[in-house]
Amino acid sequence: MASLPEIQAMKRALELALLGRRAVSPNPMVGAVVLDSSGNSVGEGFHEKCGAPHAEINALSEAGAAASSGTIVVSLEPCCHYGRTGPCTDAIIKAGIRKVVIAMRDPHPNVSGKGIEQLESAHIEIETCVLLDEAELLNRVYLHYLRTSRSWVTLKMALSMDGRTAAKDGSSRWLSCEESRKQVHRMRASAQAVMTGAGTVRDDNPELTARFTDQPLEEQPVRIVVSATGDLGNSRKIFGKTGRVIIAVPENVSCKLQKFQREFGADIWGFPADSTGYGFNLTLLLERTASEGFGEILCECGRGLATMLMRKKLVNTLSVFTTPLILGGEGLPAFEKLGIDSMVDSIRLENVRSSLSGTDTHLEGEVVYGTD
Ligand SMILES: NC(=O)c1ccc[n+]([C@@H]2O[C@H](COP(=O)([O-])OP(=O)(O)OC[C@H]3O[C@@H](n4cnc5c(N)ncnc54)[C@H](OP(=O)(O)O)[C@@H]3O)[C@@H](O)[C@H]2O)c1
Repeated sequence: MASLPEIQAMKRALELALLGRRAVSPNPMVGAVVLDSSGNSVGEGFHEKCGAPHAEINALSEAGAAASSGTIVVSLEPCCHYGRTGPCTDAIIKAGIRKVVIAMRDPHPNVSGKGIEQLESAHIEIETCVLLDEAELLNRVYLHYLRTSRSWVTLKMALSMDGRTAAKDGSSRWLSCEESRKQVHRMRASAQAVMTGAGTVRDDNPELTARFTDQPLEEQPVRIVVSATGDLGNSRKIFGKTGRVIIAVPENVSCKLQKFQREFGADIWGFPADSTGYGFNLTLLLERTASEGFGEILCECGRGLATMLMRKKLVNTLSVFTTPLILGGEGLPAFEKLGIDSMVDSIRLENVRSSLSGTDTHLEGEVVYGTD
């Protein structure tokens, strides 16, 4: 069993891992802490960006000679293969580490238990599954990517107390308090891409950039607009700031969007028209975004795109800010029909986190579909 200092070190390793969130995706976030032979923390590290040294290497180099006969506590099974960096197992063995404490095995086909086997054959003591649930939650985007080859979608919505996203006339400003809006800017800042539907672009003319963050962002998140028609009305703010803009449309309308490519440098992604005759298959879009390295996408859209994503079971986290006002049955609902006839078919959330956000409540959790 892991000792108290080892469990505390794992909590710290998970905190450190999170520091790499935007830069490593869709690779896993990893943190590591080295304890000397008396259990004192002597080195810390995390995986800072793709291609950079792994967490274990950073922690071991900070620890130096103090790592000898010590313990390394790491949030993911150490790698044992030559990728862009050398195997961490070799570095651990060379440093004279006596025990390795691991939160979760790495399901990547190049590792998948082989890292642990190598360490065991070097007579190093192994302890696994320490804070496993926390580590799996932290690396849900990576695990999802390995399983599906798709980006993880966090659908964020601001709702009235009666579940409306906008008033009857389409106005939705401001359906959340100032504190919640700041929180959304922080969410944008940590996402690699922000996605919306053409309806929101036409109605709200949003920028979808991260503003009001503690520190100015070096790079704005990529903005993705999903459209079946290619009609963005007269809205142009989405092109107004630096950073990449992608417009995803059915192939047969992509030619009419060349003007956005010429004028604003937007990328036009065309997908085969869906067999239903409406738009394109959103799964293909999320496979393409994943292949371009966008592990997690924050989606801020109206009911049209939200419904299509939900119907295809493509929403992974739902993040809802509820504000204390009522818009009545005239208001626009969060979703159109989702084929739910009975409570047994309902879509639920797990790992629910709830908090107050100014005068709003913020509720977030991972989506479990009726038939999951
Ligand atoms: N409260 C909130 O959190 C919130 C957030 C955002 C927006 N809103 C409100 O929502 C309203 C707009 O709602 P909305 O439903 O029109 O906007 P939307 O969901 O942002 O966009 C809907 C559009 O997305 C495109 N789309 C959806 N599925 C597609 C598919 N499979 N293939 C290709 N394109 C697809 C279609 O584009 P085409 O139109 O080109 O066919 C569709 O009309 C506004 O009143 C806005 O203020 C509220």
